[in-house]
Amino acid sequence: MTQTTGENSAQAEIWNGDVGQKWAEEQADLDSMLAPLGLGGIAKANFAPGESVIDVGCGCGATSLAIAANVTPGGQVLGVDISGPMLTRARQNAEKTGNVNFALADASTHKFAPASADVIFSRFGVMFFANPSAAFANIRTALKPGGRVCLVVWRPVKENPWVMKSLMIAAKHVTMPAPLGPEDPGPFSFGDRARVTRILEAAGFKEVKLEPQDVLITIGAGRDLAGSVDFLLGVGPIRMILAEQTPAVRQKVRDEIIADLAADFDAQGLRMGSATWIVTAQNPK
Ligand SMILES: C[S@@+](CC[C@H](N)C(=O)[O-])C[C@H]1O[C@@H](n2cnc3c(N)ncnc32)[C@H](O)[C@@H]1O
Repeated sequence: MTQTTGENSAQAEIWNGDVGQKWAEEQADLDSMLAPLGLGGIAKANFAPGESVIDVGCGCGATSLAIAANVTPGGQVLGVDISGPMLTRARQNAEKTGNVNFALADASTHKFAPASADVIFSRFGVMFFANPSAAFANIRTALKPGGRVCLVVWRPVKENPWVMKSLMIAAKHVTMPAPLGPEDPGPFSFGDRARVTRILEAAGFKEVKLEPQDVLITIGAGRDLAGSVDFLLGVGPIRMILAEQTPAVRQKVRDEIIADLAADFDAQGLRMGSATWIVTAQNPK
């Protein structure tokens, strides 16, 4: 079970409940969808052999393993996550990798070994803190002076057709939940450049830079169109909205989404636009 009882307990419940279970079950296909986005961050981080790296919100550990290969020989990776089911999957996947360890912990309060890491990395694992500046101030204690940060985070939902298109269709048939506030945790909470800069500077980082990354992602890992849409409806933000609807409404929305996304389906599968930031920052020397 998670060690989180404080301000991130709602997120701990989500990631230890159905959502975390689903991510653990669909790990291989989610990783094939997200791999190009993480690889963009990994290239940017410019890891070197011997470096020590912390992967924040590492989930099922795909990026932790990829980074481990980049810092060999001599380097090591610590993946930190609040999700028990996802870390179980991470540990299984890392069984044969000697230089990766995982900690079940809330990264916002975890007592990291001080000034021990060369790099803090995350693929989509830092947008869920209730108090992100405080969380990043805590995470910064783990970095050596002059250490660096590299994060991959979603840009606003409106810039992400892979989410937006199905939400627009759902909105025609169901009452949509009130949008999250600009300071609320959630997958798109690091979409605003000024907010991300403010959070990281308040945590003590310098030279905060955000570079856009626009990539077509393949959803559903080789399934047919209907199967790919079902995968999207099972793991995307629309999952929770549809869960509350009657089977008839769910069916209607699903059918309409399948018809709409046919234009995005080709020989390589369901391929849709995604928009992320690659965020870099420095710990002062
Ligand atoms: C969208 S998933 C991304 C997982 C993984 N990085 C990936 O790209 O597949 C977000 C992850 O952040 C983790 N997370 C959320 N809040 C956290 C916190 N306070 N401390 C550590 N991990 C957290 C969740 O448990 C989940 O694994």
